[in-house]
Amino acid sequence: MKNQRILVAGGTGYIGSHTVVELQEAGYNVVIVDNLSNSNMEVIDGIEKITGVRPDFVQADCTDMPAMEKLFDSYPDIRGVINFAASKAVGESMEKPILYYRNNLNTLMNLLEQMAKHGTKGIVFSSSCTVYGEPDENPVTEAAPIKKATSPYGNTKQISEEIITEVISAGAPFKSVILRYFNPVGAHPSAEIGELPNGVPQNLLPYVTQAAMGIRKELSVFGDDYPTPDGSCIRDYINVVDLAKAHVIAVERMLEDKSDDKVEIFNLGTGNGVSVLELIDTFEKATGVTVPKKIVARRAGDIEKVWANPKHANEVLGWKAATPLADTMRSAWAWQQKLRERGIM
Ligand code: NAD
Ligand code: WQD
Repeated sequence: MKNQRILVAGGTGYIGSHTVVELQEAGYNVVIVDNLSNSNMEVIDGIEKITGVRPDFVQADCTDMPAMEKLFDSYPDIRGVINFAASKAVGESMEKPILYYRNNLNTLMNLLEQMAKHGTKGIVFSSSCTVYGEPDENPVTEAAPIKKATSPYGNTKQISEEIITEVISAGAPFKSVILRYFNPVGAHPSAEIGELPNGVPQNLLPYVTQAAMGIRKELSVFGDDYPTPDGSCIRDYINVVDLAKAHVIAVERMLEDKSDDKVEIFNLGTGNGVSVLELIDTFEKATGVTVPKKIVARRAGDIEKVWANPKHANEVLGWKAATPLADTMRSAWAWQQKLRERGIM
């Protein structure tokens, strides 16, 4: 059953590209749709180098309904969809809320409508631990309350989860697996694909690798006065290849009707809370490279601590984040070095 067709929306992006690799290695046929707003065609070469298979690629905007209609018409064998396509910069979403609501929600709604028309069995959706806000307790289970979103980006994830649930309870003929990622980091061990931040990185690890490379003068550690053991914020950093593998399991679960539930939600994290200072220390020890850094004031809106209870995914999906953090740090550094070799940054 593995040689079935999966549509990966946003498949040339960071998490999407790693997932396409895992899907192809598991024997699925992939068609990627991406508008290249935050990625580029070279990613396809990277995927081909790793897997020996060049995935089909359609350059189109998922908010363009006629283009989506044409895509589903040209690939009548699409059995499942994974939707990574979204704008994801929290700060930008505060400045351009309409762009975020339009892009993230119209993309999802267009895909859902086409799926219903074309008999697609299910959709895996990229959600986020951002839906939990500052949790009342850690580690966070899927039963933790959803907190009011603090950014339009975060709100698009909450609304998207509701749209999927409502469309399915209204009778749409497909299933969904909603995956709430914690903090995805690292790159494929081949260093053929990885994260390509646009401009000054907002996320921690890309900033760490760029500071280590000398592209940035120094990393600003946003606060060391939080009520945590070393005073810096705590997150659950999940290796991107481990994360990608969970999508393959989720797809198989929907396509093979392994669950009676039409909508399932899983946290994807390691279960380990790691502070900013611990992450930097792990990076330095794993790579032997020093990260120039200074402690600065807290960043507005930051969550103090959040990490996953991944028991539900461990037990129900049979999936576990397996990669040690030090290996993940080395993969991120190898990718940064590859970007330098290629003259990209
Ligand atoms: P990314 O920006 O690298 O990938 C998203 C891809 O979607 C890009 O290739 C972009 O060009 C494409 N895209 C955006 N809008 C599109 C549109 N309208 N039509 C077609 N293509 C479009 O982001 P990522 O880090 O790989 O994130 C993937 C998904 O996971 C997103 O939905 C994001 O919100 C979610 N997520 C990411 C993180 C994270 O920290 N990276 C955490 C939680 C959830
Ligand atoms: C991690 C930690 C920072 C940069 C964001 C989104 C969230 C989710 C993941 C998608 C924090 C600290 C960071 C720097 C630092 N995305 N930091 N110096 O804040 O957990 O979440 O990405 O859904 O929605 O908000 O991730 O990587 O930005 O920060 O000290 O230069 O690193 O303060 O404690 P975050 P992050």
